[in-house]
Amino acid sequence: MKSFALLPVLAGIAAATTAPEIVIKGSKFFYSNNGTQFYIRGVAYQPNYDGVGTTTSAGEVDFVDPLANETICKRDLPYLTALNTNVVRVYDVDPDADHSTCMNLFAEAGIYVLADLSSADYSIDSSDPEWTTTLYSYYNSVVDSLANYTNTIGFFAGNENSNSVNTTGASAFVKAAVRDTKAYISSQGYRSSLGVGYSAADVSEIRDSLAEYFNCGDSADRIDFFGDNVYEWCGDSSYTESGYDEITAFFKNYSVPYFFSEYGCNTVQPRTFTNVPVMYGDEMNDWMSGGIVYEYFQDDNDYGLVTISDGAVSTLTDYASFSKEIVTATPTGTNSASYTPTNSAASCPTVGADWEAASALPPTPDAALCECMVASLSCVVKSSVKSAKYADLFDTVCGYGVCAGIDTNTTSGVYGAYSMCTSEQQLNFVLNEYYVEQKAAGNGASACDFSGSATTTASTSATGTCASLLSAVGTAGTGTVTAAAASGTGSSSSSSSTSSSAGLPRLASQSVNLGFGQLAVFIFTAVLSGTGMILL
Ligand SMILES: *[C@@H]1O[C@H](CO)[C@@H](O)[C@H](O)[C@H]1NC(C)=O
Ligand SMILES: *[C@@H]1O[C@H](CO)[C@@H](O)[C@H](O)[C@H]1NC(C)=O
Ligand SMILES: *[C@@H]1O[C@H](CO)[C@@H](O)[C@H](O)[C@H]1NC(C)=O
Ligand SMILES: *[C@@H]1O[C@H](CO)[C@@H](O)[C@H](O)[C@H]1NC(C)=O
Ligand SMILES: *[C@@H]1O[C@H](CO)[C@@H](O)[C@H](O)[C@H]1NC(C)=O
Ligand SMILES: *[C@@H]1O[C@H](CO)[C@@H](O)[C@H](O)[C@H]1NC(C)=O
Repeated sequence: MKSFALLPVLAGIAAATTAPEIVIKGSKFFYSNNGTQFYIRGVAYQPNYDGVGTTTSAGEVDFVDPLANETICKRDLPYLTALNTNVVRVYDVDPDADHSTCMNLFAEAGIYVLADLSSADYSIDSSDPEWTTTLYSYYNSVVDSLANYTNTIGFFAGNENSNSVNTTGASAFVKAAVRDTKAYISSQGYRSSLGVGYSAADVSEIRDSLAEYFNCGDSADRIDFFGDNVYEWCGDSSYTESGYDEITAFFKNYSVPYFFSEYGCNTVQPRTFTNVPVMYGDEMNDWMSGGIVYEYFQDDNDYGLVTISDGAVSTLTDYASFSKEIVTATPTGTNSASYTPTNSAASCPTVGADWEAASALPPTPDAALCECMVASLSCVVKSSVKSAKYADLFDTVCGYGVCAGIDTNTTSGVYGAYSMCTSEQQLNFVLNEYYVEQKAAGNGASACDFSGSATTTASTSATGTCASLLSAVGTAGTGTVTAAAASGTGSSSSSSSTSSSAGLPRLASQSVNLGFGQLAVFIFTAVLSGTGMILL
């Protein structure tokens, strides 16, 4: 029986009816139609950016989405098929584009998609991480654009956001993105087989803690699969010399699927891909789910299998070498029916010298709460102030100790309720905090000025859901939105009990609508592209 027959909601969609869903059970992927184990024979598939972006509702996008251009995907399909490819990883998806032609062609060819939710312009920055309404809206829109296709396996909520001990704090924000994307998928009624995972930089000093962190705590917060960008096997190496044995020792009892989300060291050239028979062979195929070779298109970093010239594909030496190995990489694995998962989720790593993310996560972005907050303020930043000046203003006003409502601390796991708002909203909140404090002390006349950057404004007194949200969060912005407050029935309390995502679905759809209007707003942190980033 084809899986789509079980899903009347998708029955009217021609998309991908030839590709049975891939489902996760324990630490393995399976075809849903017959229970055959699914090993990823993947290719990283992201065209080089030619400098001509396209404009979407999210603003200008500076990348080429290969699943949105049939000239590109039709041209490449035979070359992918000849490599026995069954997965492409796409790093930048244009959320507004129509993906139906390419997704259907790929489905017919048995090719599935793993897509990154971030893009060149929207991602969680390693050194100044945030999880905001802006990112949340963007990530959700990528989910919307691919969720209907049965050949979408799932999404990466992050790529190499933590690549050293001092960037492990970023994992708290990525894990919040995992939690909120999973909740969004469920709130929208998308199929439950859509997975949300993380693609890690393979850094031995943080490897174990990182893997445990994304696999610990509430099941609603945990990743569905773990991708690892592994560049350890260079030239003619071996299972033990490459360190694959250490990866096996640690991950063989991991409770969700593990695969290489990138592989293919190029420090010894030409590449021979002698790691491929080992990845898919007896030493590893009983616990790991294959991998994604880096990468299809030749680029400056010199990992390509093909070059494109005048719209035509030419294969490179590496294409032939890779082909020779991958076409024989066909483990049988186990059938779903005879597999009983035994591995269990990990314990959360302890915060200490080599791990800086507590298990308490940043709040779920909630555009409605941010708007309620702004409407209640009586001192805000002037609209004429350029966003480039915000950093100075934050420095000044936070020096007065009024920023608990926007602060984030990954080691203590304490996050201000408004730390997920846009930079302008956050700035408004703290300027107003200072103003209110000074007014109470009798200094009101001059306290909303900041060298001419701030101005008083008429505030609206909150009613209904706004009132209960603001009351839950408290005047300092240090409380937590509860389900009751989100539904407008909460009592007035600013408890700091653990957050509940039960109120999410209703707010989530609202956030999506409001969020896009805010995408042009200054992004406080410099956003680094995670695309194809290699840690060498
Ligand atoms: C199960 O279905 C998949 C997808 O149609 C197919 O590729 C695979 O060969 C099937 N397994 C067996 C054992 O026939
Ligand atoms: C699709 O890609 C081709 C080849 O790069 C390009 O010439 C064409 O303009 C693209 N089409 C669209 C609609 O972007
Ligand atoms: C982490 O440490 C490196 C090396 O010491 C340094 O260059 C980098 O700026 C630090 N990053 C952060 C976020 O502190
Ligand atoms: C996905 O399917 C739903 C329900 O049929 C439909 O409303 C929505 O527009 C579809 N989305 C895309 C991107 O095709
Ligand atoms: C797997 O088991 C080993 C030995 O019991 C343990 O050290 C390791 O942390 C476990 N790994 C995971 C991912 O649970
Ligand atoms: C974060 O919290 C920890 C533990 O409470 C504290 O030691 C540290 O100073 C805080 N960091 C910042 C930047 O406030």
